[in-house]
Amino acid sequence: MEKSSLPVSAEDEKRIETLIEQMTVDEKVGQLNQVGPSPVGGFEISLKEKKLRLKEGKITKEEFERDLQGVQWDTRESDVRNGKIGSFLGMRGVEKCNHMQRIAIEESRLGIPLFFGLDVVHGLRTIFPIPLAESCSFDEALFEETAKIAAKEAAASGIKLTFAPMIDVCRDARWGRIAEGAGEDTYLTSRFAAAKVRGFQGDDIAKSDRIAACAKHFVAYGAAIGGRDYNSADMSLQTLWETYLPPFKAATDAGVATFMTSFNDLNGEPCTTSKYLLKDILRNQWRFNGAVISDSGAIGELIEHGTVTDKAEAAEQALNAGIDVDMSSMCYTENLKKSVLSGRIPEAVLNEAVRRVLRLKFALGLFDHPYTDESSGKKMYLCKEHTQLAREAGRKSIVLLKNDGILPLKSNLKIAAVGELAAIRKEMLGTWAAMGKGDEAVSLLDGLKERSISVSYEECCTVNGTFDSSALERAVKDADVVIAAVGEYADMSGEASSLCHIGLHGEQEKMLSALKESGKPFVTVMFNGRPLAVPKAVELSNALIEAWHLGSQAGNSICDILFGDYNPSGRLTTTFPNHSGECPIYYNHVSTGRPTSEIRHTCKYMDAPLTPLFPFGYGLSYTEYAYKDFCIEQDGKNLHAEVTVRNTGKVAGEETVQLYAHVRKAGRVRPIRELKGFCKVFLKAGEEKRVSITVDRSAFQYYDTQMNLVEAQGTVDFFIGHDSTASLKAVLELGENNP
Ligand code: BGC
Repeated sequence: MEKSSLPVSAEDEKRIETLIEQMTVDEKVGQLNQVGPSPVGGFEISLKEKKLRLKEGKITKEEFERDLQGVQWDTRESDVRNGKIGSFLGMRGVEKCNHMQRIAIEESRLGIPLFFGLDVVHGLRTIFPIPLAESCSFDEALFEETAKIAAKEAAASGIKLTFAPMIDVCRDARWGRIAEGAGEDTYLTSRFAAAKVRGFQGDDIAKSDRIAACAKHFVAYGAAIGGRDYNSADMSLQTLWETYLPPFKAATDAGVATFMTSFNDLNGEPCTTSKYLLKDILRNQWRFNGAVISDSGAIGELIEHGTVTDKAEAAEQALNAGIDVDMSSMCYTENLKKSVLSGRIPEAVLNEAVRRVLRLKFALGLFDHPYTDESSGKKMYLCKEHTQLAREAGRKSIVLLKNDGILPLKSNLKIAAVGELAAIRKEMLGTWAAMGKGDEAVSLLDGLKERSISVSYEECCTVNGTFDSSALERAVKDADVVIAAVGEYADMSGEASSLCHIGLHGEQEKMLSALKESGKPFVTVMFNGRPLAVPKAVELSNALIEAWHLGSQAGNSICDILFGDYNPSGRLTTTFPNHSGECPIYYNHVSTGRPTSEIRHTCKYMDAPLTPLFPFGYGLSYTEYAYKDFCIEQDGKNLHAEVTVRNTGKVAGEETVQLYAHVRKAGRVRPIRELKGFCKVFLKAGEEKRVSITVDRSAFQYYDTQMNLVEAQGTVDFFIGHDSTASLKAVLELGENNP
C-alpha cells in the first residue's frame, strides 16, 4: 500500500504558498541550504588535514580526540538570523538545537523553523547492531522496533530527520559501507527498507517521538567498481531495475519522507544531477512527493566529476534535476540567486524546491512545535527498556559459523580471553554511532564479568599490530577454554573504509595458530563490519561466532550465546568468500553457460574452492531442523508455499525458513536462485509446525533485453530450507497471472 511522503493539510498548503509569496529570493535559497556546525579554534590546521594526519598515523587517535575537545563549533547564528540556513546536519545536543531554533523562530524575518538532521543509522545514544548485523536476524519486527527507539531518542535530542535507512544493495565486501545496509539481497533489503521507514516515521512524523527517514543513497552506490568508495557504478538498466532500485521503491511505498542521492556516477552521469533518476523514476513513475537531499558536498563535487565547470553551473544542474536541499557544498547559497535573477533558472523551479522543504517542516509539525523538551532525553537514553532491546537485537544478529560441540560453554569453566577487541568498549559501537559513547558500551570482558565468570585477560594481539606469544602462554596456562577476540576496528568499515584485503589484519591469525598449538580448546569471536575471508580461522577454531559490531550491549549479547541462554538464530545476509580476490561474490548471480563445477572449463577460480566460505542465509544453532512435505501452489495472483519444519534437537530454537526460486527458461538469463520469501518459526525441542509463505506473482517479473517488464512463464524450481543451498525442491508451472 502506497503512502504519501509528506501529508500536509490544505490549510497548511495555503500557509506554505503565503510564505513563498513573502520570501525574498535569498530567503528561498536559504531554505535549501543545509550545513553542519563548523569547527573553529583549537586547531592550527583544518579538520580535514587533521583527519588525514590521523589516517596516515602522524598523530594518534588519542591526540586527535583531545584536540577535537578543544574545538569550538561555529553554529552560524547570524546566517540563521538572516534566513540563510534552512536546516542543520550533525548538530548534537538538545540545548544547542533549541537555542538555534529560537534564533530562527524569534529573530529571523519570517520565523521559519529549522530542522536538524543526523545520521541516526543504528541508534542515537543506545546503539543497536550495525544494520548489516541486524539484517542477519531476518526479523522485520526487530528492524522496526530498533528504528522506533532510535527515533524516540533522536527526537528527544532535537533531531527530526535521520539520514537512514541506508538501503544500498552491496555484493562486494571490500566496500566499507556494506556495514550500513542489509547485505547483498534485494528482496531482504526491500523488506528492511520498509520496516525501517515504518519504525522511524510511525504513522505521523509530527509526533514528538517520531522523525523523518531518508532513503539513501539513490542509487547504485553499493556497486562502486572494485568496492572502492565513491567510485563509478556501471551497469545495465536491467540490473539497475532488478537489483538496485527495488529497495528504494519499497521505501517510497512505505511513505519515506526524504531521499538522498549518491556520490557516484551511474553509467557516466552523476546521480546528483540525473533527471532520469530524480524526475523520470522518482517523481514521475513512483510519484514520490517528499524532499530530495544531496549527499554531503556532492553538488560541489560535480566539478571533479567533470560535468560542470564551476559551482554556479553545478547548482543549476542539481536544482534542475530535482535536488531540493544542498547538503554542505554551499553551491546553492553562493549561486542560485544570481541564476534566478539572470533568468537562467525560472523562479518557479526554485519555488518548487522551497515548497517541498516547507512541506517537510509542516509535516514534521515544526511550525506548531518547534522546540524539544530538554529533560526527556536524559531520562530515556540507555534506559532499561532500550538496553534490553539492544541486547535482544544483538543476540538475534549474531551468526554461529562453526561449532564442534564446544558451545554452549558451562559457566563454571575457567576462561581466558585474548585479543584487544575483547576489552575495548568503543569498538563495539561500529560505524555511524550517532551520539553513542564508547565507554557506555559493554565489552565482551564486561559481559563475562557481569556474569561472575572466572576470566583472565591478556591483550596478546592488537587488530593490526604484533602478536605477543609469551602473553598468550601466560593467559592460557590455567584456562579450561579460551575466547579469542579478533576482527576489525569500528572505523575499518563504514564510509571511506574500503579494503582490498578483507581477512584478519596484523598478526591475529598467528594468535589463532598459537592457540591451536597450545592444545587448549578455543572459541573465536569476530567483530567486524563486513564479511571476512577467514578460512584459516574456521579451520583452527573449535567454534566461530560472527559478532559484528553489536552496539551498546555487545558483550551481554555475546555471552547470552556463549553460555546458551539464547540459541543462535542469525543467518548471513552476505556471502563470505574464501579469499578477498573472490569479490564481488553473491549467491544470486545469473546462470552462465558453464556453471561452476570440477570441470576445468567452467566458471570458477583455479585457486579457490568451488563454493564460498559461507553461503548467503547460512548460520548454525544449538539444535537442528528437518524439513519435509514441501508443496507450492498458484492461486491467482499469489503463490502459496507450505512446508513442515521439525526441531530435531534437544533445545528450543527459532528457525528462519527461506524460500528460493529459479526460473528455468526466460528471454534473459535469470539468477541461479533468488530469495522470494522467508518466515521465522519458533520450535520447542522435538516440536514440528507447518509453515506457509506467500509470494506475490509479481515477484517473477523481470526486464527483457529491450527493457520491457515481463512476467516469467513456465517451469520454476523452488527450494526451501535453512539457507541458500537448500535442496528440498518443488516444481511449479507458472500459469497466467489472474488477479
Ligand atoms: C555520507 C552520508 C551521510 C552524510 C551526512 C556523507 O558523507 O555519504 O551517508 O548521511 O555524509 O553525514
